Amino acid sequence: MRMYDLIMKKRNGGALDREEIEYMVTEYTAGNIPDYQMSAMMMAVYFTGMNEEETAALTMAMAHSGDMIDLSAIPGVKVDKHSTGGVGDKTSIALVPMVAACGVKIAKMSGRGLGHTGGTIDKLESFPGFTTEISSGHFIRQVKDIGAAIMGQTADIAPADKKLYALRDVTATVDNMSLIASSIMSKKLASGADAIVLDVKTGSGAFMKKEQDAYALAQEMVTLGTVAGKQTIAIVSNMDQPLGNAVGNALEVEEAIETLRGKGPDDFTKLCLTLGTYMLIAGKMAADEKEAGQKLKQVIESGSALNKLAEFVRAQGGNPQAVYDTSLLPKASIVEEVVSGQSGYIGRIDCDEIGVCSLLLGGGRETKESSIDLSVGLVLRKKVGDPVSEGDTLAVLYANDRDRLRAAKERFIKAYHFSDTAPADVPLIRRVVRK
Ligand code: URA
Repeated sequence: MRMYDLIMKKRNGGALDREEIEYMVTEYTAGNIPDYQMSAMMMAVYFTGMNEEETAALTMAMAHSGDMIDLSAIPGVKVDKHSTGGVGDKTSIALVPMVAACGVKIAKMSGRGLGHTGGTIDKLESFPGFTTEISSGHFIRQVKDIGAAIMGQTADIAPADKKLYALRDVTATVDNMSLIASSIMSKKLASGADAIVLDVKTGSGAFMKKEQDAYALAQEMVTLGTVAGKQTIAIVSNMDQPLGNAVGNALEVEEAIETLRGKGPDDFTKLCLTLGTYMLIAGKMAADEKEAGQKLKQVIESGSALNKLAEFVRAQGGNPQAVYDTSLLPKASIVEEVVSGQSGYIGRIDCDEIGVCSLLLGGGRETKESSIDLSVGLVLRKKVGDPVSEGDTLAVLYANDRDRLRAAKERFIKAYHFSDTAPADVPLIRRVVRK
């Protein structure tokens, strides 16, 4: 087999068969196919697309390119959750302990943030001492013992995707549905869970700006998971404005803790309850949505979800006291309010611009190598649809550097758009996709 022939076939609109895709993925991972040929292939896929069989073959080849984690030593249904990423998305930090407190076993791999969206690992590192660099033995033992563990993506999980994603990133071939779906699902399948719950974001702060694209991606991923024998369900959720109010690592952890105390923002609480419901049903801890909802509310009211977070933080080296006393989390030295210069309704927020504000404050990474300031960020006081009078506080900014604060504030003011009338309500959960 020759890569040249495969590129030509794809360029001319042909479909690659399973053997051809396996050859391409194996040889590329081994370094026997150069980046320039794979770049040409990715561009050909970008323009001519992949059918369902090709996407499934690519997903499986990438999943099998490295370690396939075996979680069979853990009794029960192991459930994983994945979000395509957005601004203020601290869902896993509240959801994992909620669901684990209901008895579902969660073995999850997470990533770090890059650009305007944050990563769960960075956020969790706000707990002093917390680490996701744990061995697979520790990971499995912890899921067995306390029902939940989160580890960082290791180099041995789907290495083909790691290499290919880095190549796509610099060749303008990221935003192709089949390539995104196979990239995400290859990692999920290699991570070993029995059931997968996906949160596909749509809107100005998401990867998929248009709802129909997010819906198509959700359908594609649900098909891939189902074909691979995993129970898979996806929701499409709104990312036209930040999720909850807090954006920034330690600030988001604090909001997740408030949510576990039953005092979180409505939208964030609703998202956690919705995803938690599907996780409980997939994990066979609830027969239907009503029972799942009741169980989740009960673990919040009883405090067992909060205690589960403390248990989880302790198990991964963090200080569990910070769960009960959030003054132990990193704190910024400068706290400044942004005040509205006009009255009206918040008609629209440029969501990704709010993510950029957090980045400018030092809370995000410009490049993979940048270090981040866990204490900085923003807490929104007004969101889309809220009435505002001149002089009201729109948000509170947390910073450690005056120049960064000035830059973030200028950007923030431009991201808020006013209207004279209240905008139409946009539902948080747009779609549910299952087979
Ligand atoms: N996230 C991934 O893991 N892969 C993609 O291709 C896009 C987003």
